[in-house]
Amino acid sequence: MVAPIQVLGADGSTGPAFHLRGSDVSYVLRVTDHGHVEHVHFGAVLADLTELADLQPLLRQHPAQNEGVNSPDDPSYWLDRQTLEWSGYGRGDYRLPPIEVRRHDGGLVTDFRFQSFALRDGTVACADGLPTAIGDAENASTLILTLVDADLMLELYYTVFVEANVIAKRVVLTNTAAQAVRIPRLMSQQVDLIDRGYEVITLNGAWIAEAHPHRSPVAPGITLNSSTTGFSSNRHNPGVLLVAPDTGENHGEAYGFNLVYSGNHVTAIELTQRGLLRVQSGINPVGFEWTLHAGERFETPQAVLSFSAQGLNGLSANFHRFVEGHIVRGPWARRARPVLLNNWEATNFTFTHRKLVKMARQAKSLGVELFVLDDGWFAGRSDDHAGLGDYSVDTDKLPRGLSGLSADVRALGLDFGLWVEPESVNPDSELYRAHPDWVLRTAEREPLLGRHQLILDLTRPEVRDYVVGQVGTVLDAADVSYVKWDANRTFADIASPTCPAGEVLHRYQLGLYEVLRRIFEPRPHILLESCASGGNRFDLGMLCFSPQIWASDCTDPIERLTIQGGLSYFYPPSTMGAHVTASPSEQTLRATPLSTRFNVAAFGVLGYELDPEELSASERTEIRSQIAFYKQHRELCQFGALLRADQVQPDRVTLTRLNAAGESALVGAFQTRAIAAQPPEQLEIPRLDPAARYRVTAVPHTLEIRGFGRLINRLSPVPIRDGGVVQSVVNRHYRMPAVVQEYRGSGAALSRLRLIPQFDGTGADANTRILGDFGSTLYLIEKLDSAPAITGGGDER
Ligand code: GLA
Repeated sequence: MVAPIQVLGADGSTGPAFHLRGSDVSYVLRVTDHGHVEHVHFGAVLADLTELADLQPLLRQHPAQNEGVNSPDDPSYWLDRQTLEWSGYGRGDYRLPPIEVRRHDGGLVTDFRFQSFALRDGTVACADGLPTAIGDAENASTLILTLVDADLMLELYYTVFVEANVIAKRVVLTNTAAQAVRIPRLMSQQVDLIDRGYEVITLNGAWIAEAHPHRSPVAPGITLNSSTTGFSSNRHNPGVLLVAPDTGENHGEAYGFNLVYSGNHVTAIELTQRGLLRVQSGINPVGFEWTLHAGERFETPQAVLSFSAQGLNGLSANFHRFVEGHIVRGPWARRARPVLLNNWEATNFTFTHRKLVKMARQAKSLGVELFVLDDGWFAGRSDDHAGLGDYSVDTDKLPRGLSGLSADVRALGLDFGLWVEPESVNPDSELYRAHPDWVLRTAEREPLLGRHQLILDLTRPEVRDYVVGQVGTVLDAADVSYVKWDANRTFADIASPTCPAGEVLHRYQLGLYEVLRRIFEPRPHILLESCASGGNRFDLGMLCFSPQIWASDCTDPIERLTIQGGLSYFYPPSTMGAHVTASPSEQTLRATPLSTRFNVAAFGVLGYELDPEELSASERTEIRSQIAFYKQHRELCQFGALLRADQVQPDRVTLTRLNAAGESALVGAFQTRAIAAQPPEQLEIPRLDPAARYRVTAVPHTLEIRGFGRLINRLSPVPIRDGGVVQSVVNRHYRMPAVVQEYRGSGAALSRLRLIPQFDGTGADANTRILGDFGSTLYLIEKLDSAPAITGGGDER
């Protein structure tokens, strides 16, 4: 096996230079003659460092007049033209510095030079409790470079995750001086690339509209992707992509950057007039300033970088492997997740023990495995104005407490899960009345409210102890096996009596991670799903604790295609909570078919969030078969490799899951808008073995009679008036089966499978697909052992 880290010139003759090698990625850096760490290569894998014929500085050139400053003993060495892995302020690199330092004498200049390096097998965890990716000597290797500038020591950590093709970078700064220094900016990583006309893709959004991808050329100057809300945020997810202009889902070069952190972040992309592209990522300096006392060290969160020459799908495959292999940990890593029913959209705050048990009983009969009680179970919680922070149960709603409810749910053969929101408190709560000083607030102002609540000061040990104690007691008493951990307001009044204001948000993150560790490490049987009003904290930091995250409060499947699709650039479907809810959507009022609601949720961790008692008999039958199908193909749905198809038509989305052995696949074909006079449609099924034979079947589903309006009279023996009583009765008891589709052929032929036609206004028969607006079909592809003759209701066309 080739070493994952190759070192050249360790004897001091040149460099040294370092080659970090993943299976398909190489990352090369070297130390210049002047001791700066230069970035040399990030891209296609190199067999050997000697492949880089010229390891000499790339951009040596005498400075143009008035453009830069140079080393007195080397006129061709000026920092502004170097591609640097690290830099400073005030020594001629005029781009964004990765560090800013205010020394006790007011000095601002920094110039870090290489001192030594070390190699370690596997990973090196943060000493201060920040989560980092995990790995062992088999799949990861770490390089540590030590740089020094006067009384400051800086360690650059690089870990290569070989199979995942991910390079993780972080920084540890130590103050070796006798006086304190202040640090208003310390990035986790910097890399200087040579621009090739790259475009940037960011995931932007809002509540119920998370992770919408936007792509634009990188403009000269500085582009920022950042969050200042105290969360990694639904506004701008920390994941950022840089792509060549021609890059699509399946071809072209793509770089990805992300951060193992859940608070304020920034990724800065600076394009210079000389065609250099600097990318930095780390804690957002807005509102940040850390005082590093003599002898202290500060560790940044871990940044992760990856590259693929196989387009965005290639890059996502790297990140998905990385998340499933090195971020999600504990007994739930790569473990099948249960199908759940959550009561939130069905009941909101209004429920009783009886009602919940009835829902659970029906859920069980549908095939659900886990019943989750959401918000509203504690005293005073009749709406979102009161009760948060207290952990006593509302005995009007639940006279036998959580343990009584849990026992009844478990007696039905279901697991029991619970919603909590431990980071906040309502002013109208026992906790706040007892400890009004336990919230983030300045001394001089009334703290602002968000969703009628304040944020608990997790920088303080006594507050953390309270949360750990209270939540732990509830979870144990009710025999809880799943927790939904929510956080529903953004930060303001960022101050605490116990630490300087510029440290509060980062210390809060450390406090939050400590609380999560203390609650859930001793309870490894609990599956944790984190949530922040949906996807307001969908990041690698939370995924180190919660194997899945509630992706969005928007459960409209058409919106979810964009949200889950956007998230999927960085995060695998196994991390995305996805629920089927009632139609029309509570968020958009859009009415969508039950089949499409399932087909979208099946591209994530499936749950239901509706009242089973309100379902018609025919819907119940449909849901029963949905859940049975999902369970049968759970491995494919939760852990199959995801491939997004390039969108050739704006109203079509096609997603594929492939199993590792290449034996089966699932393709979801979604029609976000029906179009008249439709051209022939081809289903692209990627990456099948061209020589092997497969069977493609449309997963059976049914269509609502109501959806046909008065056209149903062409089929019905009795007249049915649109909107009339007969239609309503028929609709509750009968649904029309969708056309049977089965195709067989070689993997090569199926890479472009011509589908039987859609309804186009002139009638339908047994060979007509009926979709309409928001219609969709799931196709199951199974490898055939032998090679049967070509047949089908829709043959190999
Ligand atoms: C947030 C969550 C929802 C639900 C409510 C309960 O909005 O995202 O799923 O749990 O809180 O108050």
